[in-house]
Amino acid sequence: MNHFVMIIFGASGDLTKRKLMPALFTLFSNKRLPEDFSVLGTARTKYSDAEFRDYALKQLRIFVKPEERNEERFRAFCIRLHYITLDPSREESYPRLRDKLESVTGETRPDNLLFYLATPPALYGVIPLHLKAVGLNTPGSRVIVEKPFGSDLASAKALGETYKSVFDEQRIFRIDHFLGKETAQNILAFRFANGIFEPVWNRNYIDYVEVTAVENMGIENRGGFYDAAGALRDMVQNHLIQLVALTAMEPPVLFDADNFRNEIVKVYHSLKPLDEEDLHNHIIRGQYTASGGEKGYREEKGVRPDSRTETFIAMKLFINNWRWSGVPFYIRTGKQMPTKVTEIVIHFKETPYRMFRGESGESYPRGNQLIIRIQPDEGIVLKIGMKVPGTGFKLKQMSMDFSYSQLGNLDIRDSYVRLIEDCIQGDPTLFTRNDAIEASWRFFDPVLNFWKTCPEAPLYGYPAGTWGPKESDILMKGRGAGWTNPCKNLTNNDLYCEL
Ligand code: BG6
Repeated sequence: MNHFVMIIFGASGDLTKRKLMPALFTLFSNKRLPEDFSVLGTARTKYSDAEFRDYALKQLRIFVKPEERNEERFRAFCIRLHYITLDPSREESYPRLRDKLESVTGETRPDNLLFYLATPPALYGVIPLHLKAVGLNTPGSRVIVEKPFGSDLASAKALGETYKSVFDEQRIFRIDHFLGKETAQNILAFRFANGIFEPVWNRNYIDYVEVTAVENMGIENRGGFYDAAGALRDMVQNHLIQLVALTAMEPPVLFDADNFRNEIVKVYHSLKPLDEEDLHNHIIRGQYTASGGEKGYREEKGVRPDSRTETFIAMKLFINNWRWSGVPFYIRTGKQMPTKVTEIVIHFKETPYRMFRGESGESYPRGNQLIIRIQPDEGIVLKIGMKVPGTGFKLKQMSMDFSYSQLGNLDIRDSYVRLIEDCIQGDPTLFTRNDAIEASWRFFDPVLNFWKTCPEAPLYGYPAGTWGPKESDILMKGRGAGWTNPCKNLTNNDLYCEL
């Protein structure tokens, strides 16, 4: 096999130091990289090879998990790193890139190349064309491109065409790192390896589904990107809808790349198109405001002071097929919430009538809930009603749970480790196919258009550190206790406002 090189565009950026380098280091430590490998970083920041190695070493010491840190191995890894300063938007940079690759590999036509685009999305369309112009889209090359792939349906289609003109589809790896999470993949095992759930996994038994992916931090140093993107493009059109698809999909005939991805796309095609009522009443957008010593979104670096970009979205959607017709899916994401949690809650229908009472005399039971906790405390919890021991017949809700930590020392690897390795091995199963990207944008485009053409569409402020605009609770009206929030709602009515 020829020398393998992973070329990272955006090598001085956040994603590279937080995720890509630690993931490559884990693969290196576990001998999962080809023997003969190098990493070539590129960005506009000026570094020599030696300076880049020093920089990378410092970042590895911070971002590699403590239990994996090892100075000797860090150094052995860093020797494999190279760097070239270049402006990826300019065609004239690329002959230099080709020359550098030749000197790194010692080959006149290096072919075993993996390009990783960890740049601002505006460069996703430009880089492949420049690579092609200097013949670097060799038959053995692959490309990983980060999300969001496009900023709406039209731009995603145009980008798709660009990529098609440079790489074959099986060489294009559109990454959505949520699919690389063990616990997201475990949804498939849970559903399709355990026959007992399938009979109840449908509209006859499930009342509604919640999908939540919230974070307790702001936008960090990503103001420039985030202010142009917003939560819908950053989280919903890709990560959240993938989780909906994993929950709702039919079992694939075979677990392989085509069959699995066919079923995902079918879910996207079955999403009930959003109508006026949905746009006005079933989508709540919010933006965090200063509170508790935390900055408001508009005070963040790189954000316009009058920005109307959403940092929170809650919405209700439906899947129009036999399994799910009439079952609402409530999805929600937000920055600066009280905690970081990603989970799916399946709410089963209530018993036909209520025979028992709860501990405080309230009528019991509520429906059962199944919580699929993607992160943290990865695991699965089934909430069931149990009799409280003693006189009388009072009920209490208890949990039956499985936690990944019970598996002992088995490590839950970061999703980038899994996905980079899959890409090196040429397995596209956990990467998003072009038709899925387009189907997802087709569904969300009306929301973007609505916000663009209807400036009066409300944007609600919510204080940093709370569960988002109170208006999102209205979406849940009639749904028992409302959103499932893993820790207490912090409410101070005076802090909420419309922006
Ligand atoms: C990224 C988003 O794709 O996912 C970020 O761009 C977000 O804004 C991140 O913070 C969340 O990922 P995770 O794996 O930390 O939940």
